[in-house]
Amino acid sequence: MKILGIESSAHTLGIGVFDSARGILANEKAYYKAKNSGIHPRKAADFLSENAGAVLDAAIAKSFPLSEFDGVAFTLGPGLGPCLQVGATLAKTISLKYDKPLIPVNHCVAHIEITRFITKSKDPIVVYVSGGNTQIISREEGRYRVLGETLDIGMGNMFDTFGRALKLEWAHGSIVEQLASKGNYFELPYTVKGMDLAFTGLITSAIKSLEKHSKEDVCKSLQETSFAMLIEATERAVALTGKKEVIACGGVAQNKTLQNKLSVMCEERGATFAVAPNEYNADNGAMIAYAGSLALAAGTTISPEKAKVKQRYRTDEVELKWK
Ligand code: FE2
Repeated sequence: MKILGIESSAHTLGIGVFDSARGILANEKAYYKAKNSGIHPRKAADFLSENAGAVLDAAIAKSFPLSEFDGVAFTLGPGLGPCLQVGATLAKTISLKYDKPLIPVNHCVAHIEITRFITKSKDPIVVYVSGGNTQIISREEGRYRVLGETLDIGMGNMFDTFGRALKLEWAHGSIVEQLASKGNYFELPYTVKGMDLAFTGLITSAIKSLEKHSKEDVCKSLQETSFAMLIEATERAVALTGKKEVIACGGVAQNKTLQNKLSVMCEERGATFAVAPNEYNADNGAMIAYAGSLALAAGTTISPEKAKVKQRYRTDEVELKWK
């Protein structure tokens, strides 16, 4: 089965190709780099549509002509409306022009499935950490159930907000990670409520701390505190479910400090920890293509007329028809 996957939920226009016989054949992308500001949905959407043609050409060059695909998968949601619309329109156009099944994919489920595929994980606790999402997930009774999550902002957005407070030219969590490697820890507010987490008190306090502490020290303390919160809730999920595998996925899962801490916790709990290479944790088209192949094999398609993007589309709304 040959599936084209189109991702456009936020700042990335990603187009990937999954072939069930040969694996991932292409994972091409264009990335909208918002400078010292939050992401502007309209500007991002313009960037995505301007780059869609070139990204599609690159993916096709590494795989098959459009006429040879068995289906076109796209991100139905969640995400920013104008950005989601770009990918949906492209997918619908290809589906109609070449008479191919159109496959709706939940972005969060795609992050989980590509990570399970690459790490060969069977039944893990999932730590899903990205800009907009921070969730601890377990598959129970045919759905990815959210056992714990952020009560306010996603961890990635918290790092981006802090990056902007530092007036970094490119406010991004990876720069916070670099600065943190040279810093020393001091205490910041730690908020875990049962299985849930809250970050607004922490980020407000971190920004205020810049008056007294170096940016390296605040970056270090912000990372240490937020990661400890996340790991506390994850450890509880492992204890509660008795599962023996933990995987991390989403943009923030690229953070090496977080990976190391999760790995230590898992070792102490007798569980394994795995994470996919960075290219599959950042938003990408291959994950949509792969998740699309699972959905199509289970018979999930949508007619182009009915395919309306869903800005809010929770992980646990998706009925999983595959193993
Ligand atoms: Fe994502």
